[in-house]
Amino acid sequence: MNTKKIAIAIDGPAGAGKSSISKVVANELGYLYIDTGSMYRGVTWAVLDSQIDVKDQVAVEALLPSLNLTLEPTATACKVYIKGKDVTSLIRQQQINDNVSTIASYKGVRQYLVERQQEMAAVGVILDGRDIGSVVLPNAELKIYLTASVDARAKRRWLEVQGTSNEQTLDEIKKNVVSRDEMDKNREESPLVCVEDAVVVDSSNMNFDETVAYILNLVQETINHE
Ligand code: DC
Repeated sequence: MNTKKIAIAIDGPAGAGKSSISKVVANELGYLYIDTGSMYRGVTWAVLDSQIDVKDQVAVEALLPSLNLTLEPTATACKVYIKGKDVTSLIRQQQINDNVSTIASYKGVRQYLVERQQEMAAVGVILDGRDIGSVVLPNAELKIYLTASVDARAKRRWLEVQGTSNEQTLDEIKKNVVSRDEMDKNREESPLVCVEDAVVVDSSNMNFDETVAYILNLVQETINHE
């Protein structure tokens, strides 16, 4: 069996299961998993914590050099630190969901984070995000565009937040999914696109284990062709 290690780019809209699926696939393969969305969330947390106006692009970008944003990929999660503070759970709050697309639309923020992502990336990595195949790792051996219908994504998110402090109605979640799709696809800087050389994986009618198995198979096929 060919055991060569490759770089894998996984892009797709919010709620398609990129993070949870990438984590499991990386574990199975013994690869490093880098959740690039957590970096945009980390910057958003820092902006809100500093009481900077999210719409003030100049002030947001001026904050970047002082953040000392670091990622610590572990077997179970991608921990995020800002100035040494572990913000891993704080970046999943609703206030972050509501503001992260604005922060991710700023050119200076993207340049700053893409540089850090490229420094961390090598072979034997999976990066997930919106611009991995197009901007961060244009030479990745395997590019996947993981998607699912709006209904399927909203329903999964709704099931996830039941009984948590983030509880919302299915309708609210659906609106949030649609508006994040809009912002991610229509922004000027590195919008979410499905690049030509990506394999589209639509998980609307696949469960979690089926999607993981499907992607592991794509990885093996890619390695066999290398
Ligand atoms: O994957 P996520 O929901 O944690 O991403 C949070 C936000 O960051 C989302 O609005 C899209 C944006 N993002 C991005 O623009 N580029 C990436 N590589 C990753 C995330």
